[in-house]
Amino acid sequence: MTKIRWGLLSTANINRALIPAIRASTRGELVAVASRDIAKAEAYAQKWEIPQAFGGYEDMLQSGAVDAVYIGLPNHLHAKWSIEAMQAGVHVLCEKPCATSLEEVDAMIAARRETGMVLAEAFMYRHHPQTKLTGELAHAGRLGEITLVRGAFDFYLPETQRQPDNINVRLVPEYGGGCLWDVGVYPLSFAQFIFGGPPKWVLGTQQIGVSGVDEIFAGQMGYADGKIAQIASSFATPFHTFVEIIGTEGRLHLSKPFVGLDEGRVMTFTPKDGPAEVISVPEKALYLGEVEDMHAAILDGAPNYLTLEETRNHVKTALALYESAKTKSLIQLL
Ligand SMILES: NC(=O)c1ccc[n+]([C@@H]2O[C@H](COP(=O)([O-])OP(=O)(O)OC[C@H]3O[C@@H](n4cnc5c(N)ncnc54)[C@H](OP(=O)(O)O)[C@@H]3O)[C@@H](O)[C@H]2O)c1
Repeated sequence: MTKIRWGLLSTANINRALIPAIRASTRGELVAVASRDIAKAEAYAQKWEIPQAFGGYEDMLQSGAVDAVYIGLPNHLHAKWSIEAMQAGVHVLCEKPCATSLEEVDAMIAARRETGMVLAEAFMYRHHPQTKLTGELAHAGRLGEITLVRGAFDFYLPETQRQPDNINVRLVPEYGGGCLWDVGVYPLSFAQFIFGGPPKWVLGTQQIGVSGVDEIFAGQMGYADGKIAQIASSFATPFHTFVEIIGTEGRLHLSKPFVGLDEGRVMTFTPKDGPAEVISVPEKALYLGEVEDMHAAILDGAPNYLTLEETRNHVKTALALYESAKTKSLIQLL
């Protein structure tokens, strides 16, 4: 096998980001799409010029036509279909959050072990040179001792996607909706990347909307030696993202840490006693890295850059934050 034959498991909106990435990669090709509805799959295949369409996820998995699938389903279906894919001998790139319970994430990890298939969480920003450079600067001590990580991912879900006949999956409680699961996991995972693991304790606060899911979530996470991370996410705020990493020697600010990195991104280092300096970052298409990472894992046997231990910790920390918000108490993790 020299090229990975990719299938899209659903006609999700987010496929639009993955289709050009798979096509831009040197070792992948997009060969199929599956939908619950064959007419939808066929129309989608025609629009995006995908050779094969399947009227059921299972049909595509059992067809022998695909080596790997991209899973952009609503959150509550990530674990089920990742496991079914691996058991059918198909590798999986699964959207974040990989699961919304530890039982599910453990079942996914067990399926990966039992089947030998590759499984990775699709946190595309982790593969971008800006994130990697941030990690190098932070871990090499350029910022001194890191004491605080702050970050947010806010956006506004429009009224048209709040109507019962056109409800956005992010607003449905039983689909694993909620802004922490949807976008709060970005600053959460960034903090975990910088601090090297899950926090010792968390404190969460949420505003539940009429939808029944958290539409604003603020979290505080405590690490060893008093280090702190503060994260925020929202469905009720004009679009805004940032990450700041603050150490004893200065502050690193990322204007676009998660999405839109292909245009107008600025990374600034402000030393504690000097002028701010803009740090240049090599360009790379945002979604290409996670696709290439899958190819290296499948074709070369390389370990995935984002480990399943990190993925499990993302889920564990988010669950603890939700528990804290619900019980209005500080939750100890370690
Ligand atoms: N990494 C990123 O940049 C990024 C960005 C956006 C979203 N995401 C993630 O991607 C996932 C999908 O988000 P999205 O906005 O693309 O979702 P979406 O457009 O609503 O698509 C979800 C797809 O899932 C399928 N599906 C199966 N069961 C469903 C059900 N009960 N209700 C609704 N849809 C169902 C549908 O495809 P068929 O009808 O064809 O079967 C639908 O098109 C989420 O996990 C989200 O967190 C990631």
